[in-house]
Amino acid sequence: MPRAGTVAPPTPLPAVPALPADLADGLRRLKLGTIRRLAPEVLHTAKVQRWTPEEVLRTLIEAECASRDESNLRTRLRGAGFPVTKSLEEFKVTASSVPQATFDYLTSLEWIPKAENLCLVGPAGTGKSHLLVALGHAAVAAGHKVRYLTAAELVEQLYRGVADNSVGRVIDTLLRHELVLIDEIGFAPLDDTGTQLLFRFVAAAYERRALGIASHWPFEQWGRFLPEHVTATSLLDRLLHHATVVVTEGESFRMREARTRTGRRTP
Ligand SMILES: Nc1ncnc2c1ncn2[C@@H]1O[C@H](COP(=O)(O)OP(=O)(O)O)[C@@H](O)[C@H]1O
Ligand SMILES: [Mg+2]
Repeated sequence: MPRAGTVAPPTPLPAVPALPADLADGLRRLKLGTIRRLAPEVLHTAKVQRWTPEEVLRTLIEAECASRDESNLRTRLRGAGFPVTKSLEEFKVTASSVPQATFDYLTSLEWIPKAENLCLVGPAGTGKSHLLVALGHAAVAAGHKVRYLTAAELVEQLYRGVADNSVGRVIDTLLRHELVLIDEIGFAPLDDTGTQLLFRFVAAAYERRALGIASHWPFEQWGRFLPEHVTATSLLDRLLHHATVVVTEGESFRMREARTRTGRRTP
């Protein structure tokens, strides 16, 4: 007899039988990995708890769908190439110069399937990249394919296409994404070929895909980095035709934070 206070050894749980080999093979062939992994346990529980056949099927299918959704999300997030993680929740609308109604429209993401553009223009530190990346993250979470690049990276990719005569293919590959975000337009001046290439890209995306761009140059000063005037005008024409334009103003968030760190009061 066990002494008071001692615990009787647990009765061993009946072993979960492995999935018959033909079923495991079929599920492997159909690439239903989650079902294959969960089926032994689910079938065993279903027998013990007398589930209906529909319940068994539903449990397995829901698990497979959930794991596909999650892995697709991870793949899209990796493919987007965001340089940092920024969220819309972290973006303080009232501390920015973005009107609330504009912010609400942008975060609705309705403009993406409509192939409208977003143009953010304003000085350094006013939240352009934050908003671009955060909208990009939200779009990925909502199931869209998104690609983030700096203008320098975009032009470099297009230039490489010139070298091996594949500019069209480079553009097509980028435009497989429903939203292409181009940050830091105008950091480096472009030569005539660079301007032409950027124009080709914007023209190819026009009314087909949504573009989100950010630049510290107001549009009337784009001539500073797009020397070829006619092309620059045509590019802006297409970019702005169906676009939400947001001018971010005010003091740099980076400066505000730096001052807070050094103990000076922020106004
Ligand atoms: N409205 C905002 N709410 C919260 N953080 C902000 C806001 N605007 C800018 N920031 C933060 O300030 C820093 C600089 O913003 P960033 O988007 O990189 O500026 P820009 O691209 O306009 O130079 C980032 O860390 C960003 O997260
Ligand atoms: Mg930036």
